[in-house]
Amino acid sequence: MDLSAAGFVPSRVSGPREAREAIAAEGAALVPGVAGEAEAVAFGRRVMGARAVRIGTQIEATKERQEREGRTLAAQPPDARGRTRAFAPTDERMVAHNDGFAFGDLAPDYLFLWCERPAERGGESFLIDTRRLIALLAAAEETVALADFCREVPVDHSEPHHPQDTLAPIVRMTRSGRFQGRYHPYLSPAPGEREAAHWPLVRAWEEAVVRARDTGPMFRAEAGDLICVDNYRVLHGRDGHSDPRRRVCSIWGWSTEAVAVPEGPLDFIAPRSAA
Ligand SMILES: [Fe+2]
Repeated sequence: MDLSAAGFVPSRVSGPREAREAIAAEGAALVPGVAGEAEAVAFGRRVMGARAVRIGTQIEATKERQEREGRTLAAQPPDARGRTRAFAPTDERMVAHNDGFAFGDLAPDYLFLWCERPAERGGESFLIDTRRLIALLAAAEETVALADFCREVPVDHSEPHHPQDTLAPIVRMTRSGRFQGRYHPYLSPAPGEREAAHWPLVRAWEEAVVRARDTGPMFRAEAGDLICVDNYRVLHGRDGHSDPRRRVCSIWGWSTEAVAVPEGPLDFIAPRSAA
């Protein structure tokens, strides 16, 4: 089944209003020529405009940081379901994800990826529109049941050691009217008697995301590029690279349309419970 049309290259725009319109229409936009991290944060705030509630740099993605935090995760024991957390090696293509998935409803609704320095080779970006992906699955007889499952059946969005107290479908419309489609490598069926029956559907969603990622387009973010993303609707990631000097900042933004806005700092490395 051809799911490549769920992947897309963001339109290049210049001002915050154009970016806001492109994000609303297509799920993302690319703004070149953003001179620094502070400028990127300020631009993101202007994209959210009057709806901005909170914005700031959450992650400075570098090879060194990923290796350091990967060692911390590797030292954590499995959770009650036997799941462990890990970062894939930097030289592998990244798993598609919404940023902040460990925080469930507190995840940011906007994401601004500012490229300070691209990898010398590799590290190209990809974006997947989950609204388009679900529409493709719903349109084909062999995957319509998968699309229904994603829209109707609540699942566990928790990451190991970061339990969430609510279950929710993989795809939903939020109360503010935003489309939200989620994927990360720890998605699990809700515990209970349907758990075993639902695992193949969770795995099928994973396979659809991987197929969209590996058949869709990739694009290169250059120094100064700001990729503005609807983090509810769009999954992102990058291809493998081995350049220790590559640096990309993940700036997280919450608007008044977010399901929930966190008050304090967010730490997804330290365990939140021993469960
Ligand atoms: Fe990310």
